[in-house]
Amino acid sequence: MSQNFSRPTVIAGNWKMYKTIVEARSFVETLAPLIQNSQAEVYLSVPFTAIYPTAQRVRELKAPIVIGAQNMNDASQGAFTGEIAGKMVKEAGASFVILGHSERRRIFYEVDDLINKKVLRALQEDIQPLLCIGETLEEREKNQVEEVLRRQLEKDLHSLSKDALSRIMIAYEPVWAIGTGKVATPENIQSAHHFCRQVLSELWGDELAQKIAILYGGSVKPDNVADIIVLPDVSGFLVGGASLKPEEFNQIIAITNENI
Ligand code: PGA
Repeated sequence: MSQNFSRPTVIAGNWKMYKTIVEARSFVETLAPLIQNSQAEVYLSVPFTAIYPTAQRVRELKAPIVIGAQNMNDASQGAFTGEIAGKMVKEAGASFVILGHSERRRIFYEVDDLINKKVLRALQEDIQPLLCIGETLEEREKNQVEEVLRRQLEKDLHSLSKDALSRIMIAYEPVWAIGTGKVATPENIQSAHHFCRQVLSELWGDELAQKIAILYGGSVKPDNVADIIVLPDVSGFLVGGASLKPEEFNQIIAITNENI
């Protein structure tokens, strides 16, 4: 037992802009029987259009899969053409939402202040935020990893109460490791996760800082999960590319289960 068992172990898939409704339903049908006995909790963050049909199929199959969204607006509703409100994804069947993913920050210019508003809105709508943080390659090369992580945690989680903090999850995803095949070393990962707990502990106290799930993301594959899940401050994974095939995603879940 390498993990602190008061902390959940979570394997979250992030499908990004992949999978139609038909493809999403078929994925869930293949994955469901494979993970019936998973100790690790399985989360799937799917495109908006797939939330409702996938959540419905998960319920019918009684599959242990938590369905989520990949983004939402910070307002409760309003004249925001093309945007989606938290209560809409919640009603469609999303129990959690990825916020602050580096693709949202980089391609869609999302800044910490907006991400903070989204985190607060998600909590208000009773949707669990999965907040993504992480440094770029340039920031790592300039030795700014801790500075960046501290800034993101302080700003993105600004004004959260202890109760609110206890309902969120964090994913540390070094931007240079996302979709590149370059995985951070176990030393890099453990040190970043440990640092995040230290910052959380300064702000909300050690008990909460130790309980919160901090996932690692960035080129997670079946052949690297065993080395990472055993790290003391890692509570699971946020998986992009390798979550698109049920067999490969299941391998990640199975290997994680063997090591917790
Ligand atoms: P990746 O993506 O596993 O394809 O690197 C991770 C993510 O973007 O969450």
